[in-house]
Parts: sequence; structure tokens; C-alpha cells
Amino acid sequence: MKKIIKDASLLPYNTFGMDIKATVLAEYDTVNDLREILADPTIAALMQAERDKGNLPFWHIGSGSNLLFKGDYPGVVLHCLAKGIRMASTNDDSSANREGACRLEVKAGTLWDDVCAYCAEHGLYGPENLSLIPGETGAAAVQNIGAYGVEISDLIDEVKCWDVEEGKEHLFRGEEMGYGYRESRLKHAADKSRYIVTSVVLKVQKARKLHLEYAGIKRALGIENVSETDLLASDRPTLQEVRDAVIRIREGKLPDPKVIGNAGSFFKNPVVDNSVFEALLAQYPDMPHYVVDQEHTKIPAGWMIEQCGWKGKNLGRAGVYEKQSLVLVNRGGASPDEIVRLCRTIVDDVEAKFGIRIEPEVNLIG
Ligand code: EPU
Repeated sequence: MKKIIKDASLLPYNTFGMDIKATVLAEYDTVNDLREILADPTIAALMQAERDKGNLPFWHIGSGSNLLFKGDYPGVVLHCLAKGIRMASTNDDSSANREGACRLEVKAGTLWDDVCAYCAEHGLYGPENLSLIPGETGAAAVQNIGAYGVEISDLIDEVKCWDVEEGKEHLFRGEEMGYGYRESRLKHAADKSRYIVTSVVLKVQKARKLHLEYAGIKRALGIENVSETDLLASDRPTLQEVRDAVIRIREGKLPDPKVIGNAGSFFKNPVVDNSVFEALLAQYPDMPHYVVDQEHTKIPAGWMIEQCGWKGKNLGRAGVYEKQSLVLVNRGGASPDEIVRLCRTIVDDVEAKFGIRIEPEVNLIG
């Protein structure tokens, strides 16, 4: 099944609630549908026109939960409709097999939280800390979504793609994906214009293995004072309890895009050299921070934005969420320009106060 819509409204396809248009929106189910779309003469011409301007030939969206179109999109927006989760076989040389995990193949258009719910129901450990992150699985694998001490890259065995240049399927093993903090090879132009994710193979564990390092999770479960040994010896918390705790934390801190337009964390948390970090810590002894490696420390951008006085404030109809300053929100009817203006003002203010230039995590398109 495929749907090609000209002059399509992208309002239902972006959680910021921007009423913008794409010259063509093309949705597909199977790889064959995708091939037909890419071969369509009108679509091929639009893609070539974008290439000629030095742009990506198309923009592939998931559920539009991590992007901001800066205006009408003059090219082709692609969207995968294929959904489904199935137990996949385990190859002898797959990393899942080496770790004693089972493999789940998830079609790119499957809502990521449906995967988390499926795993919790079937006693499969791994994705529970990533519960309720909005968006689809293909996009999640591109963005390397992460929360509460887990990143999807920890769970990825393979990413299956359609190679637009060669016109054939291509498989990346997890270790070939160039994963880092909110980073993968498919975020960069050369690969982004060439590979379209069709499905993601996850390695999940049947054996009980939880990630409870994030203090907020232990607090939400009322187990702050329980030792690691006692936790290992007990069968509590259960997988479902951890998923429920993560959902409670997210619902408490993050705005529901159905109620207030937003795209989750708008900025990445900057990773800085320890010399920079130590100088700042001397000035701000209460500054939260996370060790990245021996030379680098991550500083929460949300904390810096709050220190700049932006928490709960607005610039026009764009605002900073009152419970989490990393999230920019559409207060109602904001234009893309208003969000971008707020973004730039915050970046400049944070740089003026802390000497660190924070970067958007959200994809700014156009
Ligand atoms: N903080 C403040 N003020 C704020 C926001 C945060 O002081 O307005 C402080 C908090 O008190 C805490 C620290 O900053 O000490 C970190 O805050 P939080 O735990 O809320 O996490 P974050 O670093 O702001 C990241 C991810 C989130 C993820 C959480 C939990 C990024 C860009 N964001 O946010 O991911 O849920 O950690 O693991 O890395 C997303 O990507 O959309 C997202 C929500």
C-alpha cells in the first residue's frame, strides 16, 4: 500500500503542531511500495531538484516527534507505514547470540512505545527504561534515543535499510552504525540521503537484568535504600513495575504533545573537557553533571537554561516548559520562526553565561 499526497499538510506529522506543507508526502508499507515511490517521475524530479540545490533528496520522518520544519518543505517527505514485531532467528555470529539474547525484528513504522509494551508483556528485558519515548522505531534507531541510563544502541543488533543509490537492501550491524550520544551515521548527509531504515533488529534478554542506576527510577519505585545485592536476590521490582515507574517520571516532567506542542528535549546536553567542567564547578558547586570518560563530563543543558532564567518563560508564542527547561513548547499558534528565535536566544544566553554553545537535538529542517 502506498499513498502519495501533493501539497500535503504536515500538521498531523509534527508534534510541535506546526501547520506547514510538503510539496509531496509519500507513505509506503512494503519495500516494493517504497521502490515505486522513488521511481515515480514527479517524485524523482523533486528529489533531483533538492540534490541540485545541495540539499538532501528527501526527508524521511517517523512520527515527527523530534523535528521542526522551519517552513513549507519544497521536496518529498517520506513516511513508513509498516508496523510489526516478530521474534527473529539468531545468527551464530550475531552479537545477540554472543550475549545470550533473543532477537526481535521490528518494522520501522512501529511506535517505539509499542515495542516497550510488548517486551514488558512478554518478559523481555532491555527497552523498559525507554518507555513512553514518542516516535517510531526506525527514527529511534537513527536518533539513538536514550533515557534513564539506557540508549537504544545498547539494544540494537542490526539495522536493515533500503539503499536508495544501489536500489537494494543493506544491513548495518549495530557496531557499524557509528552510535554515540544522540548520534549515528544515519544522521549525516552522506548516509541520510542514501539509506532508509526498513526494520530494526533488537537484542532483548529473557534473563532478569534491570538498569536502576538513575536515582529518579529508584525513587519512583521507593527502593532508594535497597542494596544492589538485595535487589539482585529479589524478584522485585518487576519489568512492568520499572516500565510503569519510567512512564510516571516522564508524565510528571514532560509535556504531552497532544496537549501542548513540543519535540521533547530541544537541546543536547553538552559534553565538555574536564578543564572547562572544573572551572564551572568552582563557580557553580551545585551544578549537576555526569562523567562521560576520563577527560569529559556532560552538563545538563536544562539546568543551564534554568540558571539563565528561562524556565517557564515565553518569547512570543514559543516557550520554555515550566517543569523541564530542556523542552521548548508551542504555547498555541507559534510559527516555526518563533521557536527558532527562542532557540537562538537561549543558545546565546547560555553561551554568554557559561561559555558553552549548546546545540539543538531536534532536527531543524529547511
Ligand atoms: N535540570 C534542571 N532544570 C531543568 C531541567 C533539568 O536543573 O529545567 C537538572 C535536573 O535537576 C537534573 C539534570 O538537570 O539534575 C538532568 O535532568 P533530567 O534528568 O530531567 O534529564 P535531562 O538531562 O534534562 C536527558 C534526556 C532526556 C531523558 C532524560 C533522562 C537529552 C537531550 N535528554 O534529559 O531525553 O528523558 O535525560 O534520562 O539527553 C529527549 O531526548 O527528548 C528526552 C526527554
